[in-house]
Amino acid sequence: MNTILKALFFGFVLFLGTLIVFESSASLWAAAESAPPSTELPMPLGLDYQEGARLYRRDCASCHGVAGDGDGALAETNALLRPRNFREEPFRFLSTQNGVPTQGDLVKTIRRGIPEAGMPPTLQCSPEETETLAEYVWALFQLGSGKGKTPGKVISIPPSIPAGSAVQGEKLFATYCSACHGTDGTAKESPEFPDSLGRLSKPRDLSSGKFHGGDTDTDLYCRIRCGLPGTAMPPFSINQLTDQQVGDLIAFVRKLARD
Ligand code: HEC
Ligand code: HEC
Repeated sequence: MNTILKALFFGFVLFLGTLIVFESSASLWAAAESAPPSTELPMPLGLDYQEGARLYRRDCASCHGVAGDGDGALAETNALLRPRNFREEPFRFLSTQNGVPTQGDLVKTIRRGIPEAGMPPTLQCSPEETETLAEYVWALFQLGSGKGKTPGKVISIPPSIPAGSAVQGEKLFATYCSACHGTDGTAKESPEFPDSLGRLSKPRDLSSGKFHGGDTDTDLYCRIRCGLPGTAMPPFSINQLTDQQVGDLIAFVRKLARD
């Protein structure tokens, strides 16, 4: 576990190194530092967000922007980096029926990071600090499009996802998924789809084996059941696919990554 996190972290350090080759790092971080403190945002009354603001400015604002608009200094200089705009975009990686994440979903993403998309894990934070960050990010969401939203019921996740057959999975994939991801999962021939902010991109190349929301069976189960809000990827309910069929799809998706 720790080895994986370390590997991911060093991957990120390499990634940062690449950025720094092209841009003077000093000016980037100075820009992030000189932005107005996020404690000036109209946070919900009665809550102390000082600590969240401090951690957020230290570890997140360089990408997500001080106000959470996704326009941090690093994002401004790298068009391929698309940090979530907490004020206007929905969250993608979740386990609920209504497309709104639980605190646990946010904590999980923040702790793990999204190394596949350039976001580092929070190795430097204690579990409490990571929770504080999740609350802070949630508050930013509530200040924008998340106003009044609350997480729905968590979907029923089988304690162990049924072991699937890649052969069955391939057939299901042809019916439910290949229109977007392509028969070979690479999405090479697929059209681009807009996200909720109108930015175009192709569906994920599933042969890359890189899953932004984590790569355990449970992660993939949640992605298929809940979809990725804010993108073209739809949710598939129990009425469309049984748990066994989701297991078959996961087996096929893993085979795509291996081949
Ligand atoms: C180097 C840039 C970078 C940094 C630093 C960064 N992020 Fe991100 N973050 C991203 C990118 C890029 C995405 C979008 C990934 C995607 O769409 O798959 C993202 C997405 C997210 C999401 C959305 C998850 C979802 O379910 O949609 C959350 C929450 C998040 N980041 C929190 C944080 C927090 C908290 C910090 C600071 C501890 C942080 N990020 C630091 C780049 C960064
Ligand atoms: C209407 C188009 C569409 C359909 C149908 C679709 N997907 Fe997707 N899928 C997408 C898009 C777009 C993304 C990338 C979203 C993003 O940009 O973050 C995606 C992302 C994914 C991911 C990556 C999740 C992660 O954590 O990074 C997986 C896994 C996936 N799809 C599996 C499937 C499976 C299995 C099916 C069929 C049951 C399916 N998709 C059907 C459009 C689609």
